[in-house]
Amino acid sequence: MFRLRDWCEDDLEPFALMNADEEVMRYFPSVLTREQSDAMVRRIQSLFAENGFGFWVVECEGRFAGFTGLNRTAFATPMGPHVEIGWRLAPWVWGRGIATRAATEALRRGAEEFSLTDVYSFTTQTNIRSEAVMKRIGMSRREDLDFDHPNTPGWWGQRHIVYHISI
Ligand SMILES: CC(C)(COP(=O)(O)OP(=O)(O)OC[C@H]1O[C@@H](n2cnc3c(N)ncnc32)[C@H](O)[C@@H]1OP(=O)(O)O)[C@@H](O)C(=O)NCCC(=O)NCCS
Repeated sequence: MFRLRDWCEDDLEPFALMNADEEVMRYFPSVLTREQSDAMVRRIQSLFAENGFGFWVVECEGRFAGFTGLNRTAFATPMGPHVEIGWRLAPWVWGRGIATRAATEALRRGAEEFSLTDVYSFTTQTNIRSEAVMKRIGMSRREDLDFDHPNTPGWWGQRHIVYHISI
């Protein structure tokens, strides 16, 4: 049905198409240009080299379908240094439980392969689909940790809600 795998050069084009889609990027400050999308892949690859884990490619029916995985958050939050779980999938796979199952597998890898114990997730207040994934994978709401994203001052989606799970 799906698998998590490393990135390859053939992923750059479908990833850029996804990042240019306004529906996919509705809860981000803007869509990404091809250059910004490619740069994100390079960043993800260098973080894999550093941490061993990262945002894995989700492959579905042999096609690139987005990413799901673990990342050391690079900006200041009330959680302090921590690992987040995140996802971004192409609309053709939405509504099939792929994000939920891919995230469950990412948490398993985090615990079993990288000895992680705590994982956080955050999103804008109105990203109901993303919040629903957090709930489905067993995360708990942490209202006390909600924060204004430091990199997006003035953006309507700046306020972020936080979820946590012990793994
Ligand atoms: C956030 C995002 C990954 C969620 O995708 P999604 O398809 O809603 O989530 P899932 O893949 O877990 O699918 C859940 C749906 O599949 C259904 N489903 C079917 N089989 C399922 C299964 N085995 N397990 C869980 N859910 C299943 C659920 O009932 C649910 O249906 P619904 O959409 O009618 O509520 C997707 O909307 C996305 O990529 N958005 C853009 C990027 C983004 O905002 N990322 C998050 C930034 S913080």
